[in-house]
Amino acid sequence: MRSTVNKVSYLRGEVEVAPDKSISHRTVILSALAEGRSRVKNFLQAEDTLTTCSCLQSLGLSIQLQDNELLIDSPGINQLREPEVVLDCGNSGTTMRLLAGLLAGRPFTAVLSGDASLNKRPMRRVLIPLSSMGMRFMARQDTYPPIAVQGGSLQGIEYQMPVASAQVKSALLLAGLQAAGVTTVLENALSRDHTERMLAAMGAQIERQPGRVRVVPGAELSPQDWEVPNDISSAAFFLVAASIVPNSEILLKQVGVNPTRDGILDVLRSMGADLEIINPHTAGGEPVADILVRTAPLRAVEIQGDIMPRLIDELPVIAVAMAVADGTSVVRDAEELRVKETDRIAAITSELSRLGVAIEATPDGFVVDGTKSCLRGATVNSHGDHRIAMSLAIAGLIADQPTYIDNAEAVNISYPEFWNTIQTLSR
Ligand code: S3P
Repeated sequence: MRSTVNKVSYLRGEVEVAPDKSISHRTVILSALAEGRSRVKNFLQAEDTLTTCSCLQSLGLSIQLQDNELLIDSPGINQLREPEVVLDCGNSGTTMRLLAGLLAGRPFTAVLSGDASLNKRPMRRVLIPLSSMGMRFMARQDTYPPIAVQGGSLQGIEYQMPVASAQVKSALLLAGLQAAGVTTVLENALSRDHTERMLAAMGAQIERQPGRVRVVPGAELSPQDWEVPNDISSAAFFLVAASIVPNSEILLKQVGVNPTRDGILDVLRSMGADLEIINPHTAGGEPVADILVRTAPLRAVEIQGDIMPRLIDELPVIAVAMAVADGTSVVRDAEELRVKETDRIAAITSELSRLGVAIEATPDGFVVDGTKSCLRGATVNSHGDHRIAMSLAIAGLIADQPTYIDNAEAVNISYPEFWNTIQTLSR
């Protein structure tokens, strides 16, 4: 599908962006651990999270949507059944990596596969530590999907993650809950901690220190009523949009502002953005707030180091903000972008260049010269990546001449209402 984005004169209004994708995935996967009915308010109904639902249904969960609430009935971890079909994880790395951890301790065989993008993404990062806990597997070219996981008895381990990854950490915690002995995961830079928060709420024995999380198996886990905040990674598009489109003012309601996810707020503030955090509170065990954003002149920024896991998914749209900032901006230490839904360094630099942005790729990031950039419409491609599609759409809002985005349906992965949100705000 091709979408056309036209320049707008302002963005105004109040919106609820899409519910949080990471937390929505986890409500379904973690509910599998606890026998009984879990309920989820504000579950993200998008391709990625519906994929997770269908995988868990193949493992014996019953999942239904009733009055906007997701009802999940689990037979309990010990009653999960061997799937009769390949578990199709679609485009979702979170689904595949977390399921590998869940299945590592189950006494049966399951095959995990995905779309062309997911089947090229590295699974070694979960397969190696899980196999050192005792899981057996076979995979294409050793560690790429499709993967056949043969679960069984596991032994707890202490594991230092070579790259900070919430998906790896979560997979190891899910396996650790089913292992004999304690599992400890160490990370150099803090990755998102939704799994730890949610497991603790369910009654798991989780001990946390900065850079270290430890799970002691054995506690009985109870089903929960979850409430999912709206996704800061989806809000990011409108934080940037309202900052760069003249005369804009947007109130983003009920956004998750977990400190392991809010790096974009720090970066936009240091670029001079006008952001106000309103009514911060806790809901469903997560920090939540409304965010008011108004147009402001932006200055260049350099981003590197430990902040990366706190904003990795937002870097494509941060590149758009950099395109209008005064000066040269630099992103370093972001090599993880090369193994996301697409190589996001290659995709964002090639597509923003077409739109007139002076952006150059480096091995671990990119450099953007805002003073030499002049956004003009062009035909661009999402590369099948939802966050690239939405970032290009935000650039299109300030480009002279229309911007045509090919493969724009990619937004359905995390934010099916994205185009409607733009329309509501620009009317
Ligand atoms: C996610 C973790 C992040 C993020 C991804 C979702 C999660 O990846 O980029 O979009 O839900 O756990 P890492 O596992 O590399 O941290």
